[in-house]
Amino acid sequence: MSDLLNFTDKGDEFGQLIVIENNHEIPFAIQRVFYIYGTSESFVRGRHANRKSQFVLICLQGSVKIGLFNGRDAEVVTLNRPDQGLLIKSMIWKDMYEFSPDAMVLVLSDKMYDDTEYIRDLDAYKVEMGARDESKSQ
Ligand code: TYD
Repeated sequence: MSDLLNFTDKGDEFGQLIVIENNHEIPFAIQRVFYIYGTSESFVRGRHANRKSQFVLICLQGSVKIGLFNGRDAEVVTLNRPDQGLLIKSMIWKDMYEFSPDAMVLVLSDKMYDDTEYIRDLDAYKVEMGARDESKSQ
């Protein structure tokens, strides 16, 4: 379920530099960029799935855990390197937690913000994913 992208560091002896271009280092064209920081270590962010948006999460500084759930399987990925991105496709439930005090998470998305594409109720998500599985097996 998790898809870790490794970015090439183009830095030199003077410092590091990573480039991300549309449909090159990441598999989509960026429509939206946001970043998350100053999150309390005990707080769980996310707790939703998106019907349409895909995301790449990059922990530029510090560390954070990302819990992924596809309605059947669950997985936890720790992000703590600026040269690694986590690709999260649409309809994956995501939790973000255990932010280190200095955590700075850059999020790239292929869609503009649209509140109506969010599923924020885990039970409703499970029902919908269960219904999808059943329709596939018929
Ligand atoms: P929210 O999705 O609840 O953040 P998180 O999942 O990280 O806890 O978003 C927090 C607020 O920011 C909420 O009022 C919606 C707003 N928001 C936007 O306006 N545009 C965006 O692209 C995002 C991600 C959030």
